[in-house]
Order: sequence, then C-alpha cells, then structure tokens
Amino acid sequence: MRFLIDERGKKYLISEEEEFQNDLGILKQEDLENSKAGDILISHIGKEFKVIQPSVNDIIELMERRCSILLPKDIGIVISYTGLGSGQRVVDAGTGAGAIALHFANVVGREGKVYSYEVREDFAIIARENVKLLGLDNVEIKNQDIKDGIQETEIDMIFLDLPKPYEMLEKVYDALKVGGWLAVYAPYIEQMQILHRIAKKVGFDEIMSIECILREMEVKTKGTRPKTRMVGHTGYLTFARKL
Ligand SMILES: C[S@@+](CC[C@H](N)C(=O)[O-])C[C@H]1O[C@@H](n2cnc3c(N)ncnc32)[C@H](O)[C@@H]1O
Repeated sequence: MRFLIDERGKKYLISEEEEFQNDLGILKQEDLENSKAGDILISHIGKEFKVIQPSVNDIIELMERRCSILLPKDIGIVISYTGLGSGQRVVDAGTGAGAIALHFANVVGREGKVYSYEVREDFAIIARENVKLLGLDNVEIKNQDIKDGIQETEIDMIFLDLPKPYEMLEKVYDALKVGGWLAVYAPYIEQMQILHRIAKKVGFDEIMSIECILREMEVKTKGTRPKTRMVGHTGYLTFARKL
C-alpha cells in the first residue's frame, strides 16, 4: 500500500487497479502500478504527486472510521508503560475502527498476534479493511462481545476501551500470563475509581492511573509559545499487572 501527496500536502490512499483523479488532474492506472515510494507522478494537467510509503499513522489518518479513535499520545503511553514488544500476544476491545489495534500489530510484528473484539458487525467489517491497508496478517478482528468471554490464554497485554471495563476484570486476569498487563482507557474519573477497587479485589498488582495532557508548540518568527487551542482531555489510562 502506498499513498499520494499532492502539491497542497493533501494525502490520498491509492488503489493500483484504477486510475486516480482529483481537481489537480488524472494519473494513469499503469503509472500508479509501476510507481515506487519516492517517485513523482505528473497528472495530465502537469501537477505533481509524490508517492509515499505510509506509516501506521498515515493509514489511521486516511482510513475509514465511524467512531472516535484513540490519539497517538494515549496509544504511545499504553505501549511504553506495558513494555509491549516484538512477538507478544495482545487482546484489544472494542476495536472501533482499529486505531490502537493497528499500532499493536505494528509493534508486535509478524511473530506476534493481536486479537481485537468488536461487538458491532459493521465496525468489525471496516476494521478488517483497515487492517488490510497495513499489510500485516497478525490481527484477528473478532465480531464478538468480549463480555461473553476471552478465548485466548497466556496473553501479554489486554487493552480495554469499553463503557464498563471493570465488568471484565476477572476474565482479563484469567486470560493474562503471569507478568502480563491490563491497560484501560476510560474518559471518566468514576470509571477509574471503580477500576482500582475491583482490580485490587481480583488480585492485580501495580495498579496506577495517569492522564496525559499534551501541548503543541507554535514556532513563529514573532515568538515561540504553546498553541492557544489544545485537546483538554481524552481519557484516563489505568494499568494493572498480574504478578
Ligand atoms: C471508542 S470505540 C474504540 C476505539 C478504539 N479502541 C481505537 O483504538 O480507536 C469503542 C468500541 O467498543 C465497542 N464495544 C462496546 N462494548 C463492547 C463489547 N462488550 N465487546 C466488544 N466491543 C465493544 C463499540 O462498538 C465501539 O466500536
């Protein structure tokens, strides 16, 4: 999979099986098929399009989605705090459009595996298409309610982004390997408080929660300062470990 970037910086995922066209002209199907990352293609009206190998973030930016997705700031923290790495096995729920599932797949690589549960069939279909864009075959999107059970065992990390994640903690504990991590994304403080209480009762250790507040900087000739607008809050991240 590759994408095009036009002279205005606008990005487009391309199919190599058909021609591409927008207001800056037409690119022939055979030119797209024979192109490689780094090439510059010229449309029939002389406009330039650069061919780029997409990163997982490009795919997430361009893929179809019908629900809100996790932001890179929270995804990065989940990966770093749980020490996720190559060859590991992850359970994820709910999938949504698959943003964090794609990042997990990217990190665990071909030797690892991501099992992602999504209760809505229409969302699961979209997520499967999004996984295809990444070009990895290490993600299984399961159109199942995770409350009905986790089939996998000896899992390295289980990530929950669900309305009532605390209802799942016994099943999560059983599915994790010793040393494995639970990570939960939840927008409300009340969810976080219940999570702490139930995680302790179930037997988890190293229970802690954080919130990541991120400010982008604006660098101008006049001066450098934080941007006026920022995302004030996304969710609280809670971690717990089976020891
Ligand atoms: C906010 S979205 C998830 C976003 C996603 N984690 C990401 O990486 O962008 C929440 C998803 O959870 C799904 N969901 C809710 N309850 C579920 C359950 N019990 N089992 C599986 N999926 C569930 C919803 O259908 C929805 O698609």
